[in-house]
Amino acid sequence: MRRALWLLMLVSLAKAETGREAWLRYRAIPTPLPSVVVRFGDEPEVIAAAKEVSRALEGFSGKAPLSRQSLVDNSVVLATARSLTNHLPGVSSLTDLEAGGYWLGTSTVKGKRVSFISGSDSAGVLHGAFAWIRHVAAGENVARLNEKSDPAAPIRWVNEWDNLDGTIERGYGGRSIFFENNNVVADLTRGGEYARLLSSVGINGCTVNNVNANPRALTSEFLPQIARIAEVFRPWGVKLSLSVDFASPKTIGGLDTFDPEDGRVVEWWKAKADEIYRLIPDFAGFVLKADSEGRAGPATYGRTHAQAANLLARALKPHGGVLVYRGFVYDHHADWRDLKKDRARAAYDNFQPLNGQFDDNVLVQVKYGPIDFQAREPVSPLIGALSKTNQTLELQITQEYTGQQRHLCYLAPMWKQVLDFDLRVGNERTPVNEIVAGKTFRRPLGGFVGVANVGRDENWLGHDLAMANLYAFGRLAWQPSLSAEEIAQEWTRQSFGNDKRVVSAITGLELDSWRVYEGYTGPLGLGTLTDILRGHYGPGIESAERNGWGQWIRADHEGIGMDRTVATGTGFIGQYPREVAHMYESLRECPDELVLFMHHLPYTYVLHSGKTIVQDVYDSHYQAAEAAQQFAIRWKALEGLIDEATFARVMNRLDYQAGHAIVWRDAICSWLLKESGIPDSKGRAGHFPGRTEAESMTLSGYTVKDVTPWEDASGGKAVTCEAPNQKCTASFTFAGTPGLYDIVVQYFDVNDGEARFQLNVGDRVLRAWIANDHFPTKALNGDSSTRVTLRKVRLKTNEIIKVESSPDGNDPGALDYVEVMPSR
Ligand code: GCU
Repeated sequence: MRRALWLLMLVSLAKAETGREAWLRYRAIPTPLPSVVVRFGDEPEVIAAAKEVSRALEGFSGKAPLSRQSLVDNSVVLATARSLTNHLPGVSSLTDLEAGGYWLGTSTVKGKRVSFISGSDSAGVLHGAFAWIRHVAAGENVARLNEKSDPAAPIRWVNEWDNLDGTIERGYGGRSIFFENNNVVADLTRGGEYARLLSSVGINGCTVNNVNANPRALTSEFLPQIARIAEVFRPWGVKLSLSVDFASPKTIGGLDTFDPEDGRVVEWWKAKADEIYRLIPDFAGFVLKADSEGRAGPATYGRTHAQAANLLARALKPHGGVLVYRGFVYDHHADWRDLKKDRARAAYDNFQPLNGQFDDNVLVQVKYGPIDFQAREPVSPLIGALSKTNQTLELQITQEYTGQQRHLCYLAPMWKQVLDFDLRVGNERTPVNEIVAGKTFRRPLGGFVGVANVGRDENWLGHDLAMANLYAFGRLAWQPSLSAEEIAQEWTRQSFGNDKRVVSAITGLELDSWRVYEGYTGPLGLGTLTDILRGHYGPGIESAERNGWGQWIRADHEGIGMDRTVATGTGFIGQYPREVAHMYESLRECPDELVLFMHHLPYTYVLHSGKTIVQDVYDSHYQAAEAAQQFAIRWKALEGLIDEATFARVMNRLDYQAGHAIVWRDAICSWLLKESGIPDSKGRAGHFPGRTEAESMTLSGYTVKDVTPWEDASGGKAVTCEAPNQKCTASFTFAGTPGLYDIVVQYFDVNDGEARFQLNVGDRVLRAWIANDHFPTKALNGDSSTRVTLRKVRLKTNEIIKVESSPDGNDPGALDYVEVMPSR
């Protein structure tokens, strides 16, 4: 009873949560825990680990534990393996742990009950401390713990694409936590907090600036500022690295060349590396994007990627640094008329011939798929080809093509498919995770890099549930054998508590979300059918076609898909080892989920699923959009079971996603219907019961406008209210039977003004709102299309439904349609 009261008190005292604590919340856990924290050793990471365990214990038990430096009863002891053996000979023999690895154990020493957190080195103690805390937070009994764990690979990094001016390329969680106004921010509290989060899942490196690097990052004026970031990372065992611009010797170094074979350039990079290590002795190394998307590179001087990589690697080598060379190199001015051209071939064509020419402290960083972070791609064939080259696998935590953290899309299930994919190199079992970790080809280095792009938003990524991706990336980089479900559960327990209903609901949502997102955006391996020329967000199907970017889907009235076969296509499939190539080349074996990535097929082609392509696309879009409606309903069931503020933030996002999934569904189905001319056998595509287009309402003040691309607006058109200080109205008569209805107002919210809207029924004002969300466009299209939904509105026959809007700035208060459906 007393405990129940105490818990109740804690709950009522709890402040609204902002998401800033992420999964390190340390809320009350009703289990007996050690009351003393004992630390052997003074290494900064061991000190940080002991402090963290104290902080966690205080949160879990409501009482700060005592700190000691000698053994006492009911304590948890933190020490490296070596200092543990020195202090307590015979307790453990952890000589076989790898760098960063840890051991958690329990024992009774001289009559004292002790839990141990030990590591091969001080970073290992830190990893062990967070693992121990994770077990406690999940409600497990740590009194019986005996766990030994080594990281799967030495490189476990995140890349941040932060620009020095404070913006973030493809960042959706606010401005940079590191930079503002071409300087490092004065207050690096968030930087330190971020390193703590990274450390808690075993990430040991962070590249702080955009791969499209500003040369200023390497100037002597700027480097001392970068050193300040390294300082806040250091206690957490996170090493800092920098993205560099290959032309730096010329742009900031005063030379007239950046030719990697020029002695002066060699000297410049060497002196620069020496300078950096004087300021940052544990500097991790450089990341280089060269000859890609307009970046400077060795091609200017007819040199190879290997020559460029080795130049920088040799400057770093004496200090123990590494050079990570992006494998993302392709021609973005490709001739789309040439049916043999194929961007998917580029990584392999560029790097496979150089296999074996890279120094031992170079890693080639390969994106998981051959195109660019799509909702689904096959594994990059380059991964199987770099048998004499270190690699890192590049995954994307920031949801560039997967809903930009406005849509829920838990990526671990996709990453698992990549990591577990067996490339069958030499006809043997060679899963991707083992190749990139350096195990398959016995490489000295290897690992995993996630492009994270956290920002200054209190909840880091803009969507509380997207934090599962950051968490999952770290956990998989440490232990790729974990399942997406185990990780989702771990994350949920730590982030939301151990209530069974909460754990099962949130884990379920996370696990369903990627397939649902794929289902309403671009199935059958077509990639995300988004506007690739602009925001990479809403639908923009034909933006992929007839330009140099090479994300072609080759759709016409007859069929769709890229022919990448060896027999008749671009030959891309031939880049895979024999068994995998055979699977993709043969239509009989090629899985449906990638069939249009590999083959060009008529719309009437019958898939393994037994459906035609066209019907499969209709069905998947309707099913997935419906599943997205259910996400909001499933979340609603958690009201009162989790923190109120977090509940509301997520509810908001899921409500929006439900609407935007319909924008996607309608765009793709309408486009497919028009392109193929083949109707949906279930009669849905092109028919919208209950919908009244704005352009067919009675309009006052509004102008009818074509929307581009046409499929992003219902009927291809919207109405806009453009004269300043004007109020426009659009109305129609409700002709249905009296009853309870849900009313949807589908409108456009551009980020260049805040138009006002109002919905009236008869003389009742049902809702007034301001279009002030932040979508990535100033245009009327699928990025800005959004909705307001009013549920259970009582309507009478012949009532007038009226929408009013007034423009603001460049926001013309545009309206797409109103839908009136019986309430469900
Ligand atoms: C994508 C992304 C770019 C980024 C590039 C990269 O193409 O849209 O913003 O610079 O990847 O990975 O280098």
